[in-house]
Amino acid sequence: MAQEEQKQSRRKFLFSLGIIGVIIIAVVTFARDMLLYLFPPKKEKKFHKYLVGKRGEIAVGKAKEIKIGKTPVYVVHLEKEYKVFSGICTHLGCIIRWEEDKGRFFCPCHKGIFDKTGKVIGGPPPRPLDQFRVEEEGDLVFMYVKNKTRGPWA
Ligand code: FES
Repeated sequence: MAQEEQKQSRRKFLFSLGIIGVIIIAVVTFARDMLLYLFPPKKEKKFHKYLVGKRGEIAVGKAKEIKIGKTPVYVVHLEKEYKVFSGICTHLGCIIRWEEDKGRFFCPCHKGIFDKTGKVIGGPPPRPLDQFRVEEEGDLVFMYVKNKTRGPWA
């Protein structure tokens, strides 16, 4: 009899221990999720910063081509600021070129034309050239390119 009671008592104890364990795991998980929600971890840098020129290197109204990887981008010196445009046409993705004598961009594929501010002034492109964020620090001009590195779930 006493042995039977001892077995039952042990069973109850183990059952209670299991329940308490599950409750502790649930509370700890909930608390961790709440903390992550309230204080999200600092995200990775979202942009790459590239030096694209020095102040005074490009005359006002002119552009300079540089390559980011294999992709051309154009740094344009407008009257009050620098702009950096993608060298990819917004029509079907051909590579544009800067026409120095005309002060504009030209896409040879379907004769798309963009002015020095990236605005479409001729041909089929549906929208202006894509622009990159630009910042000047002292005499240097930097552009920022979105970091496309993603995790395996993206
Ligand atoms: S791809 Fe540039 S105009 Fe068509």
